[in-house]
Order: sequence, then structure tokens, then C-alpha cells
Amino acid sequence: MKACIVYTSTTGNTEEVATAIYNQLVSHIDTDLMSIDNFEFSTINMYDYFIIGTYTWGNGQLPTEMKALYQRIETHANKHLRTAVFGTGDRFYPLFCGAVDRFRDMLYEKTDLAVTFKVELSPQQTDYNKVPIFVDRMLAVQVS
Ligand SMILES: Cc1cc2nc3c(=O)[nH]c(=O)nc-3n(C[C@H](O)[C@H](O)[C@H](O)COP(=O)(O)O)c2cc1C
Repeated sequence: MKACIVYTSTTGNTEEVATAIYNQLVSHIDTDLMSIDNFEFSTINMYDYFIIGTYTWGNGQLPTEMKALYQRIETHANKHLRTAVFGTGDRFYPLFCGAVDRFRDMLYEKTDLAVTFKVELSPQQTDYNKVPIFVDRMLAVQVS
């Protein structure tokens, strides 16, 4: 079993969360941590667990660099791929972490979405405390 965390981050907030999730997840399962800039879309199906990290841009929009990943998963639906999405945003904006919501809705329909996680700007201790819960939910075995 293998997991991948693919994230984007311009000022480092989402990267901090991605690193915290990686550090927790890698103690349970072989995990790759990758910036979207280095990610090969054709490798998605190598993974059993696929985790997306994104900030929000514009007015609740996906960052430009995440749009191709979104479209790739949307058009290659895989209900066996267990997914999660997390992100950082700023409550100053009306659509707080809108990019997380957009990924959530698509992943729920096209994949086996396990969990979502939103953080305001730079993660605080209360956010770090939620990381083990995020990882446990991600890895929990589904009974069908
Ligand atoms: C031009 C601009 C637009 C933004 N729009 C939103 C938004 O609609 N919703 C939101 O929650 N955050 C918004 N943000 C805040 C960023 O998502 C937030 O600062 C995030 O933590 C940046 O992540 P990063 O440090 O990983 O790059 C915006 C920031 C900028 C500069």
C-alpha cells in the first residue's frame, strides 16, 4: 500500500500542513510528498491513498496550477482510490477554503473520499492536533 500527498503552496502555509500530514502518515505507510510542479499525473493509479493540499485563490477559486489535476481526476473517475483533501485559506474572504470545497465535491463523486481538513493561514497547535485524526480517517478500512 502506498500514499501520495500532492500540494501547492505559494507562501508556505499549505506546505506546513502537508509536511505535518506527511510526518504522521509516513509512520503508517510508504508515502510520497510532492509539489504539484513535480507530479506526473500518470502515476495516480500507483497509489492506494491520494491526498491533495491546496490554498484558495481569487474568490474561492482553485489555484491555476491545480486545475489540471482536478480535471484529470474528474475525467478518470476511480471509486477505488481513497482520497482526502486539505487546504489553507483566510476567513477574510467570503469563500473560506473554497478550493477545498471544490475538490471535496468532485472527489466525493468520483473517488472514495475519506476526509477533508481546513486550516486558517499558518497552522496552529490546535490544527496540528487534528493531523493524527485526519490520517486515521484516511487510513480507516471501509466496510462495504
Ligand atoms: C489574491 C488572493 C486571493 C485569495 N482568495 C481567498 C479565498 O477566496 N478564500 C480563502 O479562504 N483564502 C483566500 N486567500 C488566502 C490564501 O488562500 C491563504 O493565504 C493561504 O494560506 C495561502 O496558502 P500558501 O501559504 O500555502 O500559499 C487569498 C489570498 C490572496 C493573496
